[in-house]
Amino acid sequence: MSQLQVSAPAITRSAVLLFFMPFANSVNGAGSAACPSNRYASTVGLALTLAQDWPPWGLPACPFLDLKAMIPLPIIIDCDPGVDDAIALLLALRSPELAVQAITVVAGNVPLALTQRNARQICELLGRRDIPIYAGCPRPLVRSLVTAEDIHGKTGLEGATLPDPALPLASGHAVSYLVETLQSAPAPLTLATLGPLTNIAVALIQVPAIAAKIERIVMMGGGITQGNITPVAEFNIYVDPHAAQVVFAAGMPITFLSLDITHQVLTTPDRLAAIRAVGHPVSDFATAVLSHYGKADEALLGTVGAPLHDPCVIAYLLRPDLFTTEPGQVQVELNSSLTLGQTVVSPASPDRLPVDIVRSVDAAGVYELLTNRLGHVGN
Ligand code: BDR
Ligand code: CA
Repeated sequence: MSQLQVSAPAITRSAVLLFFMPFANSVNGAGSAACPSNRYASTVGLALTLAQDWPPWGLPACPFLDLKAMIPLPIIIDCDPGVDDAIALLLALRSPELAVQAITVVAGNVPLALTQRNARQICELLGRRDIPIYAGCPRPLVRSLVTAEDIHGKTGLEGATLPDPALPLASGHAVSYLVETLQSAPAPLTLATLGPLTNIAVALIQVPAIAAKIERIVMMGGGITQGNITPVAEFNIYVDPHAAQVVFAAGMPITFLSLDITHQVLTTPDRLAAIRAVGHPVSDFATAVLSHYGKADEALLGTVGAPLHDPCVIAYLLRPDLFTTEPGQVQVELNSSLTLGQTVVSPASPDRLPVDIVRSVDAAGVYELLTNRLGHVGN
């Protein structure tokens, strides 16, 4: 049974978390000290997960009590912050349904020195010094790094000036963390990938067996009918197409959240006004960066408002009912200079594990969820 599945009538993950909330993730906006409670919530979750999966414990599947739907979903977030990555981190770290085990950082929107700094600043803003942040690969597998300052500004978080982060990076490389954590994980983990897939690909190249320990990758990347950095290629895949190909070939469940979806999730003035109206330090930060974000995308698309890509991944994990999917397969163009990084989506074939292609989104629902979580959650 998938960890994303919610049975009905269910005592839901959210409901049980109301009970666990006082002990679980620290979601306040103040700078609280290191928080061991995240580990506590994960341990409770893990114990319940194992209890439901291990037949000798004698817990038969129960029609009205889906334990997996009740516990925080353990996830690792791999990202390249970036404004929309930052908003995705805010959403994830303020959502008690998710137990973020670590943030791994890669070069992408801006160079690694800035993406790792931005991740540390976001965690400090949220008072989440308990989340380890690992720096990963400073460049793609084969190609030179391409960055996106036109969308995210010179620092990657244009519009906000956050204090220099005191929170240190976790020691060790992000790829080593991924390999060791997945190898030793008693149950498969979910990965939310918001940037170029370099870290994930290197981990899979080092130890291919970790694919079996990945419950699912929910990725923002690619396009079905459009590109954003070239007419046919999306930024995350274009930056490291070889890494993307390694990931698609590794044979684990993947949810593919492309530009065809995220281009519907626009930062319209009314949505930004709703976020501004929340009036919390976290929503104030979101308002500041979103007011500067994505001008180049708006010009390209001719839209009022820019696409808010990466938070869709977290919204999918929290509320899969806001999206629809259908099975397919994805291949990445590696050889043509004209169409490099294009993701070619075709119908599922019986000899390959299908990719879940996201086909529709309730954009209003995504913004409602985001706006609520940017407010006074748990404090
Ligand atoms: C993706 O590219 C980056 O600029 C964004 O952070 C997002 O992950 C959209 O193409
Ligand atoms: Ca990103």
